[in-house]
Formats: sequence, structure tokens, C-alpha cells
Amino acid sequence: MSVVAVVPAAGSGQRLGAALPKAFVPVGGVPILLRAVDGLLRSGVVDRVVVAVPAGQVGAARSLLAGRPVVVIVGGSDRTGSVRNALHAMDGASGGERAHGGERAGTRGGDAHTEDFGDIVLVHDAARPLTPPELTAAVVAAIRSGRHAVVPVLPLADTVKQVDGDGRVHGTVDRSVLRAVQTPQGFTRALLERAYDAAGSAATDDAGLVEALGESVHTVPGHASAFKITTPWDLQLAEMLLARTPE
Ligand code: CTP
Ligand code: MG
Repeated sequence: MSVVAVVPAAGSGQRLGAALPKAFVPVGGVPILLRAVDGLLRSGVVDRVVVAVPAGQVGAARSLLAGRPVVVIVGGSDRTGSVRNALHAMDGASGGERAHGGERAGTRGGDAHTEDFGDIVLVHDAARPLTPPELTAAVVAAIRSGRHAVVPVLPLADTVKQVDGDGRVHGTVDRSVLRAVQTPQGFTRALLERAYDAAGSAATDDAGLVEALGESVHTVPGHASAFKITTPWDLQLAEMLLARTPE
């Protein structure tokens, strides 16, 4: 079973507020997107990568990622749209490549699978450039062991309160049953395609669309280094971590 990683990198990075789209901002001298893709490939379990970038950045992304088993496509207006575009691109590309490699098995959304673009699909935010390759390997191992949807999670360190619009506290949430969710999230390709086919509105993560189908989502332990660069503070943290850790 081959593995393809979809990397949504088509956001503008409003909260980071840099001059460039977030994926192209350097961290430790290397663009965030390049670090994210190379981290996936270093895991040794990812065969191909499909990267979704803003419409004006396709050429720049292709140059940046040259020499790697990467396809660059144009993303959508939200993260869900970007992943959806990547799934469609995989469909079209694998159909074409299969023209000389044999016939395509099944139909999309059923028990379809292709060798070219993976029976296992990871979805990994470009904005998590320091994700340890071992985390990617753990997610894929969980899928290979028979799970159909797997997400890395961390317990919450802070006490969590429920508040109203005026900021008044209405209670303390039992944080022992809560987890913060990271990427890469892993899926069997058939399940992820079914989830996207059924998806109504945009979701903040892919597993949410699988949950909406009523299907089980399983967890593996996440890693602090897989944090998402969202604000300038996060970028500074990443810079500091890279400065302390020889590569
Ligand atoms: N993303 C995407 N397509 C979009 C929006 C987001 O591919 N239309 C990607 C981002 O590039 C990022 C990941 O989804 O790798 C997580 O999104 P987020 O951290 O919110 O990034 P941005 O949307 O770029 O940031 P912001 O919300 O601050 O503008
Ligand atoms: Mg966003």
C-alpha cells in the first residue's frame, strides 16, 4: 500500500502577517513549505506528495521543491477546498498514469484504490514544519495496522473554561477527556474521499469530515514539535528551536 501526503499550503498567513504567503516564509533560513515536505519524505513512509499553493505561487513552489516526488496544484479558498483540489488532482493524474499501467480498479468513493497515488492518504499542514518524521511514521503504522482514520493528539496543559460573549465564565470543562489535534492525519484513501464527497461546509480538520460520516477516528500520541506556526510568536519559537538543535 503506497502513501501519498497532501500538504495544504495555500493559505495567506493573515495571523502571521508576513510579506509572503506563510508557506514561503523562511524559518531557520529555509521556507516553511520546504521543511514540511522534506520532513514528510524523511519519514521514509511517504511515496509522493501533493502540495496545494496559492494561484500565484505554483511556479515558485515547483522550483522550491524540484527533484522531489512532488506534484504542485492550486489550492482553494479555504483549507477544505485546498485538500479537495488535491484529491481531485490525484484522481485525474492516477487515471492518466494508469493508461499504460493497467486498468483502474473500482470507482471513486467505493473501494477504489490506485497504486500511483496511494491507498493511504496523509493530510499535513505546511504550517507544521518541525513535525518529527517519527510522528508521520507512527500515523502510517497505525493505518497499516488496520485503522481507517488516525490523528495525532496532545493532552491540554491549561485548565479550560467555557465563557459567554461577554467573557463571563460559565464553567470549567473536564480537560481529561479533551485533546488538541495535530497533523499529519492519516486515512485510507477510500474513507477520506467518501468524507470529502459528503462534506457540506468547510471543516478545520479532515478527521472532522470523517466523524461527520459516523466513522471512527483513532488517535496516536502527538509531539510538541508538530506545533502549527500561526502567529509571529510561533515563528520565533520555531527559529529558537532550530537555533538550538543542530540539523
Ligand atoms: N490552507 C490552505 N488553503 C487555504 C487556507 C489554508 O491550504 N485556503 C493551509 C495553510 O496554508 C496551512 C494550513 O492550511 O498550511 C493551516 O491553516 P492556517 O494555519 O490557518 O494557515 P493560513 O490560513 O495561511 O493562516 P491564517 O488563518 O492566519 O490566514
Ligand atoms: Mg487559516
